[in-house]
Amino acid sequence: MAEGKFVVTPWEVRGEVNYDKLVKEFGTEKISEALLKRIQRHTGELHFMLRRKIFFSHRDLNWILDQYEKDNKFFLYTGRGPSGNTTLGHMVPWIFTKWLQEKFDVELYFQITDDEKFLLKPELSLKQTQNFANENILDIIAVGFDPKKTHIFTDTQYAKTLYSTAIKVAKHVTFSTAKAVFGFKNESNIGISFFPAIQAVPCFLPSILKEKNIPCLIPAAIDQDPYWRISRDVAPKLGFYKPAQIHSKFIPGLGPGAKMSASDPKAAIFTTDSPEVVRKKIMNAFTGQQPTAELQRKHGGNPEICSVCQYYYFLFEENDKKVEKIFEEERSGKILAGEHKEDLADKAVKFIEEHQKKRERAKDQIDKFMLKD
Ligand code: TRP
Repeated sequence: MAEGKFVVTPWEVRGEVNYDKLVKEFGTEKISEALLKRIQRHTGELHFMLRRKIFFSHRDLNWILDQYEKDNKFFLYTGRGPSGNTTLGHMVPWIFTKWLQEKFDVELYFQITDDEKFLLKPELSLKQTQNFANENILDIIAVGFDPKKTHIFTDTQYAKTLYSTAIKVAKHVTFSTAKAVFGFKNESNIGISFFPAIQAVPCFLPSILKEKNIPCLIPAAIDQDPYWRISRDVAPKLGFYKPAQIHSKFIPGLGPGAKMSASDPKAAIFTTDSPEVVRKKIMNAFTGQQPTAELQRKHGGNPEICSVCQYYYFLFEENDKKVEKIFEEERSGKILAGEHKEDLADKAVKFIEEHQKKRERAKDQIDKFMLKD
């Protein structure tokens, strides 16, 4: 891959992502300061993920707020592809979604695409993606969504409801469009070429269930945008509003590189890791620091590529001043990696221990959340 090249599709994120370029290529809009102020008028404060532009791009967010201000409340739709256990990286957009739910007091539909991951990953059986779905659901519930307002479903268990809308969507999407948007090849299995119709359905489902049009806002990483382009194309043809989006950047892992990937177990912290494993992974994390303490003190490091700094930034430190201090200490070489790692490990272990307690309690809550046929 040539320098400066990067690839972002729903199924692959590679290279150094240039988010400005991506916004242009995808035709989305950056979240402006004016839009942030408008959000803040409703939420009172801005979540650190908005302040830091972790959620940085959108489609039709102004329209969503227009509607909200006219008492036409939206619902939230997000999802998870159960290809493995949940990592801390997955939790970042969920934590933000919970904040949106609380601040706007809205319903949330949460799709778990056990079908997608089965079709896409040659190495995974359907049983496996369904098992991961069950595990992931515990993490989702543990985030603290309101059980009265949150509806979680897996595609295979809710297929009867999803199917009739999926075929209505599918009838409006030609193979050549799907191919252009998703990069399907002649060798791709035919299941995956139909799947985008299934991921479109929840954009419209509440409108169908409640028999009135309800605006939809999707918080998700920007790699999911191709799905929403299809959904937005089809929406008016089926008589629905186009779904709006708020897009996040990718959450880096513990190794060098762009995204925390569940497929590299050493570079990701799983919500099921024991505190000892969490500590060990952090102590072995990539920091990009100079090879010796002496050189680090002299030249300093680069917080932008230091995974320890990035963890604080994306998840563990809500206070902007404190994050800036951590970055500055790294840049100036004042603090060495070891110390930063110890502090981060303490925070991460505390987070994991609390999360695991909530995860245990979630086991008795499942029925309150699930939609099934
Ligand atoms: N395709 C997504 C994934 O692989 C899962 C998903 C389904 C999703 N619906 C969504 C993600 C809506 C975000 C928003 O992870």
